[in-house]
Amino acid sequence: MWRLDARIPTELPAKVYRMGPEPDFITSATIRELSLSSALLDRKLPEDSGPLLLQFNLPDNREMRLQGHTVKLRHRPLKGTAIELLAMDGDQGEQMWTFLRQRILPNSRCPYCACGLGRDARAPRCPDGNCGLKNGVCKLCGHRLDFDADHYLAEHLNDTMARRLQAKLRLISPDRVRKILQLVDAELLKSVTPDRDMEFVGTHPDMLKVFSLIRRVAPTGLNVLILGESGTGKELTARAIHERSERRGRPFVVINCAAIPEGLLEAELFGYTRGAFTGAYQNQDGKFVQADGGTIFLDEIGDLPFGLQAKLLRFLEDRVVERIGEKKGRAVDVRVLAATNCDLEERIRRDQFRQDLFFRLNGFTITLPPLRDRGEDVVLIARYLLQKHRPNNPDAPTSFSPAAIEALRRHNWPGNVRELINRVRRAMIMATEGVIEPADLELADAGGPLVATDLRAQVDLTEREMILAALRENGGNVARTARSLGISRPALYDRFRKYDIDPRQLKNRSH
Ligand SMILES: Nc1ncnc2c1ncn2[C@@H]1O[C@H](COP(=O)(O)OP(=O)(O)OP(=O)(O)O)[C@@H](O)[C@H]1O
Ligand SMILES: [Mg+2]
Repeated sequence: MWRLDARIPTELPAKVYRMGPEPDFITSATIRELSLSSALLDRKLPEDSGPLLLQFNLPDNREMRLQGHTVKLRHRPLKGTAIELLAMDGDQGEQMWTFLRQRILPNSRCPYCACGLGRDARAPRCPDGNCGLKNGVCKLCGHRLDFDADHYLAEHLNDTMARRLQAKLRLISPDRVRKILQLVDAELLKSVTPDRDMEFVGTHPDMLKVFSLIRRVAPTGLNVLILGESGTGKELTARAIHERSERRGRPFVVINCAAIPEGLLEAELFGYTRGAFTGAYQNQDGKFVQADGGTIFLDEIGDLPFGLQAKLLRFLEDRVVERIGEKKGRAVDVRVLAATNCDLEERIRRDQFRQDLFFRLNGFTITLPPLRDRGEDVVLIARYLLQKHRPNNPDAPTSFSPAAIEALRRHNWPGNVRELINRVRRAMIMATEGVIEPADLELADAGGPLVATDLRAQVDLTEREMILAALRENGGNVARTARSLGISRPALYDRFRKYDIDPRQLKNRSH
């Protein structure tokens, strides 16, 4: 295997430190050979000296402080220590490269594979004698040798990226490699998510697992059941699966099984023919037909009325849609993703949900953790939202105060990411000094009481309290709560969204 980086002989004095909160001086040494990824010192250092800092000055007096670690000297009778250097930041890399490049040029061998370039008779020849340069590229190892070309360094680093990674991953335990792959998955997921609204933010290990599951299940065509509390990103997950599947570009149809009155849901899903029921003035296709070729997302599947569950099961078995009032079915090709924030297995035990339907839907399960269990992701998502929604206005807030960050961390987030979005957006309007404070987020500062800061906010707080009280009174029953408040069920669901209320959480306990 050829070298990844051109190495040059030098005589640069250097100092070696052990890394730590305060670098700890170990020894002075001379750098005998140097490349972008390694240095050979003339001194012996214990193998496995841990993370090191190598400090030296380039001839133009620029100070370099590079991190690295010792590696075994292979095939080398030389005395000394080889240090593998960690990837440098852009500036340092450029400075090093300027220095190295000037010293590579006079060489008549390829600095990567040492193959003779036709100018040095003593240089080794490659086995088929086919040494030399062609169009600025070494014929043996294939590296470009036109060092003066613009962007040489960036392109060389790109060309050799895979080999660099491979070499480094060998030094890391398989478990950690898996974690790194999950991070890569998360990046890939972002890169195929065209809509900025769909950006999925998170670095908590549980979320990295979720990203990895999405990537793996997306191309399979399996039905997926997405579980998680309200506002945790179930719909976002469903969209991400659709976008990463071969169905992307085809319809993605969402239907909320809880928000549509029971009588209408069957017609919405399956469609109807003219005259099938009072008010059916014309033939109408349902959501399954609209989603043909694409994906249907059945949100709040736990609320699907029992009678309709049998019909959905039949559909999942034969993929034929029968419109209401019609015997002849129509075959459709739809991938079914379903989500719920209720405990389906508990519903099965209570005979409220069909077990056979559960098995059908549950080809693969993805469970989204609640926001309160995602550690620093709260802060990460809050900052992301601030950037995303920042208006082009110099007075708009640009950051969170330390107290606001603390308040974000302390809050329990019953409405999860949706609640975070609402609070951040509101805070962006309320903040006065360019910095968001806990009160702007309507979060208590160091355990203080929640205070509304203007009339609108006071009205919202009161409305929220009334809804919660009515829900409690009605044992969490949405239809009865809507009636008692004198509003429609869909209007009540709108308020649930607005105020991050999960009616199920009120069934057995107070809010
Ligand atoms: N990790 C995340 N990063 C950025 N935005 C997110 C994340 N998770 C969720 N969101 C956003 O939060 C909002 C709520 O997400 P989504 O609608 O997918 O949640 P849900 O679980 O379906 O909620 P509900 O149960 O209330 O229907 C959406 O605007 C979504 O884009
Ligand atoms: Mg949803």
